[in-house]
Amino acid sequence: MKNILLTGCGGQIGSELTLELRRRYGNDHVVGSDKRVITTGPLAETGPMVSLDVTDAAALAEVVKKYKIDAIYHLAALLSAVAETKPQLAWNIGVNGLYNVLEVARENNCAVFFPSSIGAFGPSTPHNNTPQDTIQRPTSMYGVTKVTGELLCDYYFRRFGVDARGVRFPGLISNDTLPGGGTTDYAVEIYYAAIKTKKFTCPLPAGTFLDMMYMPDALNAAISVMEADPTKLIHRNSFNVTAMSFDPEIIYREIKKSIPDFVMTYDPDPVKVGIANSWPDKMDDSCARAEWGWNPKYDLASMTADMLKVIGEKHAKGLI
Ligand code: SER
Repeated sequence: MKNILLTGCGGQIGSELTLELRRRYGNDHVVGSDKRVITTGPLAETGPMVSLDVTDAAALAEVVKKYKIDAIYHLAALLSAVAETKPQLAWNIGVNGLYNVLEVARENNCAVFFPSSIGAFGPSTPHNNTPQDTIQRPTSMYGVTKVTGELLCDYYFRRFGVDARGVRFPGLISNDTLPGGGTTDYAVEIYYAAIKTKKFTCPLPAGTFLDMMYMPDALNAAISVMEADPTKLIHRNSFNVTAMSFDPEIIYREIKKSIPDFVMTYDPDPVKVGIANSWPDKMDDSCARAEWGWNPKYDLASMTADMLKVIGEKHAKGLI
């Protein structure tokens, strides 16, 4: 990877991954793009930033040629709960956008990173220690776009040699940009609520176990899989990766260790509950560990300590 383009760089992953890639590969070599026009803040101030709609194939090709791009991190997508309210748009961005990225990659010899998700699994998938290769019959539009994306990436590699790689991310927890409309968002919102009001209403019931990961580990996963020695990769794309699995009670109890008067109540959201119940409780990520050395650093305790510290400092400064 010499010159990297990120799509959807203003989102939860992109806003941090763009800056991390700039630190590692040089500011001028990492081009951020987003449908929104971003002219201020770190994304615009530390390197090239363009406005780009991934459903516009011609505009995408122009950016790839202009900046001599050889690797694309394709992050533009709608998250699961919002995708259920706009399934047509979710398909258009999730599948047609990826198709445009793979085509431009084929024509310009680019590598591609595609973030799949725990959403690529469904109710008939084994939910405990979900294997790397297993049944994938998701019932959400988000999941349908993710499975389609996994298959498209495999196809473009086999048929055209496009070096398309990726992981299946669990719920991602970060203290910078908020996620927008995901089923796992509660695990981010709970920290903000604990700091700001000491009260939180959880949209998923107790007992809903889901895989989760702290953002520094997610950034490492996205970069490590692209830097991995291709001769060691058996799967290449859609690697299960996880760092922890918990339900709302477990994260609540962990936060209460630091904020004893924090109170959580439940008001389940039927759309999110339906989606969460169809997803794994805990994935088996042994293929990622064996093939490219995946090894997360943060568990629930160390992530919680860092989240509360960083969000607490922002709150004290009046930034949130
Ligand atoms: N965090 C995502 C969502 O909840 C799952 O990949 O939509």
